[in-house]
Amino acid sequence: MLKKWTMGVVLALALLAFVPKTAAQNTGVDAEGHPWWKHAVFYEIYPRSFADSDNNGIGDLKGIASKMGYLKELGVDAIWMTPFFPSPQVDFGYDVSDYEAIDPMYGTMADFDHLESEAKSHGIRVILDFVVNHTSDKHKWFLDSRSSRTSAHRDWYIWRDGKGPGKPRNNWLSTFGTPAWTYDAKTKQYYYHYFYPQQPDLNWRNPAVEKAMFDVTRFWYKRGVSGFRLDAVDTLYEDPQLHDNPILPGKDKFGRPNMDEKYNKKLPEVHEALKGLRKVADEYGAVLIGETWTSDVSELKDYYGSHNDELQMPMDLLLNGLPFSAEAYRKHVGALDSAGGWPVYVISNHDIVRSYTRYADGKHDNDIAKLMAGFYLTLRGTPILYYGEEIGMRNNNPKRRKDVQDPVGRIGWPKEIGRDGERTPMQWTTGKNAGFCTVKPWLPVPASAATYNVATEEKDPNSILMFYRNVLKLRHTDPALVEGDYAAVNEDDPNVYSYLRRYKDEAVLVVLNFSNAEREARFDFGKEGFDAAKAETLLANKASAEDGAKKISLEPFGVYIGKLTR
Ligand code: NOJ
Repeated sequence: MLKKWTMGVVLALALLAFVPKTAAQNTGVDAEGHPWWKHAVFYEIYPRSFADSDNNGIGDLKGIASKMGYLKELGVDAIWMTPFFPSPQVDFGYDVSDYEAIDPMYGTMADFDHLESEAKSHGIRVILDFVVNHTSDKHKWFLDSRSSRTSAHRDWYIWRDGKGPGKPRNNWLSTFGTPAWTYDAKTKQYYYHYFYPQQPDLNWRNPAVEKAMFDVTRFWYKRGVSGFRLDAVDTLYEDPQLHDNPILPGKDKFGRPNMDEKYNKKLPEVHEALKGLRKVADEYGAVLIGETWTSDVSELKDYYGSHNDELQMPMDLLLNGLPFSAEAYRKHVGALDSAGGWPVYVISNHDIVRSYTRYADGKHDNDIAKLMAGFYLTLRGTPILYYGEEIGMRNNNPKRRKDVQDPVGRIGWPKEIGRDGERTPMQWTTGKNAGFCTVKPWLPVPASAATYNVATEEKDPNSILMFYRNVLKLRHTDPALVEGDYAAVNEDDPNVYSYLRRYKDEAVLVVLNFSNAEREARFDFGKEGFDAAKAETLLANKASAEDGAKKISLEPFGVYIGKLTR
């Protein structure tokens, strides 16, 4: 039996008292020349589901503003809010009908200003979601565009003749299971949409579109926002000749032939648009985050721009598809860290099944959630947390098609059930609907909310929430976690993934047991110039150390974080 188990959280309080020399908060460039967003912890908020101030079952801006204290205490430096602009809500806000206003469902511009000032007074920056690829079909630009073939905005979207009655111009398909071309009887042409028919694609080849979109960002920068998360950047441009995409073997989840989207996705022109958006961002010292779905690390690297003149923060979404193993994670992080860009780590979001659900094995679920926190919050790079991850929220998937809200889930049921499961209300208390509202919420709260909620977890030193808070405290205060490089150690271990974050004369050692068995890891940092025998434990879950950090014993999915000196 392994000895000296650290069954809960062990925290070296002395280290937490350390006052950072570096600017972990949003005060611009630090002593090492790093801009604020390299030290910041980002947090994604889905406004419909975060906090409901008027108790109508849908979250709102006043609700978000009221939770700044909670976010601050968690260790959040910047919030990215998914769209809350006027919208018919076909795609829950990703169909914007006015980029420069607030949907009354979420509040008013005064509420937004209040949210911003609350955020600012808590040292939290505000990042908005910019839906660059398409608008709503109710946007005034599209209403004008569809009104006649000669309207001022006709060429702001992609209109083409069909090949004959009922036959669109080419074989492209919408990713949401519908055709990609919709016929408009009034002007007898088809318009193109990569997403729902209510989300017509903008024509980024038209300079007027580009200018209008750049001006949208200026509008918000002037109102104090610190940057944007750019939605669906891959699909900004289409082949001007509209070639058919090659058909691939097999069928997609909607039963349609698979295709290689080479003519309507990831065209090289995308990078020109990103450069333009970045130029404007630079005028305001803003940061751009990208929704960058890539097939490998080198493709991800392209989004930084050959002269670091595109996105500062393209999200690594590849991590979410990796096998859950020490080897796969070590290999991926190694590739990303050495690729030259600043890594951005994400373990779930409003389109991806929650990490708790993806990795739970039914036996060690909470330990796995802590393992993930110990992992992505201690890497070199910026993490983006998804709301609720910090309390172990899990997917609450619809059981019947008629309960589904997300249209793609109704179109694709039962193979594609949509994204409702990962978008349910934040779990605040043990009260009705987890304290989100007392009326019926727009999506149901799972029974697990009785245990997994902020109020309960704040009282339990061993909770997932307290583990997140403790890791984030370390992340903000320990110089090696703030500034250190990344170096994998014990690289032959197939079960335990370990690495150092090294900074000057100190380092942090992170040891992660990715297996469901007890493991031991032995360390000797002679080569790296650190004294393993003098290591001190900073934080651990289901792990203990002997002889400093010479021997670390881990229960299944245990995490150890320790401090090394020379
Ligand atoms: C990506 C967003 O994250 C997703 O929620 C949305 O449905 C599509 N883009 C279309 O805007």
